[in-house]
Amino acid sequence: MQRQALAWRRAGVRIAFVPTMGYLHSGHASLMRRARRIVRPSGKLVVSIYVNPAQFGPQEDLSRYPRDLPGDKALCGRMGVDCLFVPGTDEIYPADQSGSHSAYVMETRVSSSMEGASRPTHFRGVATIVAKLFNLVLPEVAVFGAKDFQQAAVIRKVTADLNYPVRIVVAPTVREPDGLALSSRNNYLSVEERSQALVLSQALRFVARRVSLCKSGVPASRLKADVLRMVAAQPRARVDYVEFFDPATLQPLQRVSRGTQMALAVFVGKTRLIDNALL
Ligand code: PAF
Repeated sequence: MQRQALAWRRAGVRIAFVPTMGYLHSGHASLMRRARRIVRPSGKLVVSIYVNPAQFGPQEDLSRYPRDLPGDKALCGRMGVDCLFVPGTDEIYPADQSGSHSAYVMETRVSSSMEGASRPTHFRGVATIVAKLFNLVLPEVAVFGAKDFQQAAVIRKVTADLNYPVRIVVAPTVREPDGLALSSRNNYLSVEERSQALVLSQALRFVARRVSLCKSGVPASRLKADVLRMVAAQPRARVDYVEFFDPATLQPLQRVSRGTQMALAVFVGKTRLIDNALL
């Protein structure tokens, strides 16, 4: 991969990159369309599929993560992907004479709350694999989805702080017509859970409406209580967190007004879903 990328870069060919964990859906397709628009038909569009063990916690079932390589290849073909990079774990984390892989990338500020608090080693795994993939694919631009708002913030910070010459683009969340944000994890939901999972996008819309009606802002504690009540009304759903914060710094805010970012994580059955919106 790196040899090919170097050859392209030497020939002045632009490289756009969409890193994924596979089980691709129209959300990923929209990232690919965005990446292609940036580098134009003459550039190369690289997509990686790698289910990265380092970003799964010990309680999270890595082996259960959905996979469909034939389906993913077909979608990449339809999207005009030039290179589909599907490395194995023995290639990404090879052992050498000194033993197993022992170098990691850690971001220590924007990664500490929300997903970072609930999943302590998650962002170390994400930052490490993204740094490694950037070194292998050598992209000029990489496109990530806005559904993983905090992930995008961590990747922006790592890219800036470690001087990666990569432009980070964040593309909007793609939703089902009823509001559910597209996610490979939606595949785990039963029919009943699928309908209860709508509470995430309903909560975002409810809070956005409340905030738009009150120019002086609304206390975060009151909005959190409202969201907890909404989620509690769904028997299969349980809140992990609801947060209101400054989208630039990710610092929590006590008073919520227009321009505040809201994010939430909710277990629906055993499946943990996340969503967010700029209010
Ligand atoms: O968002 C994802 O699919 C993953 O976290 C990423 C960025 C591909 C790293 O494994």
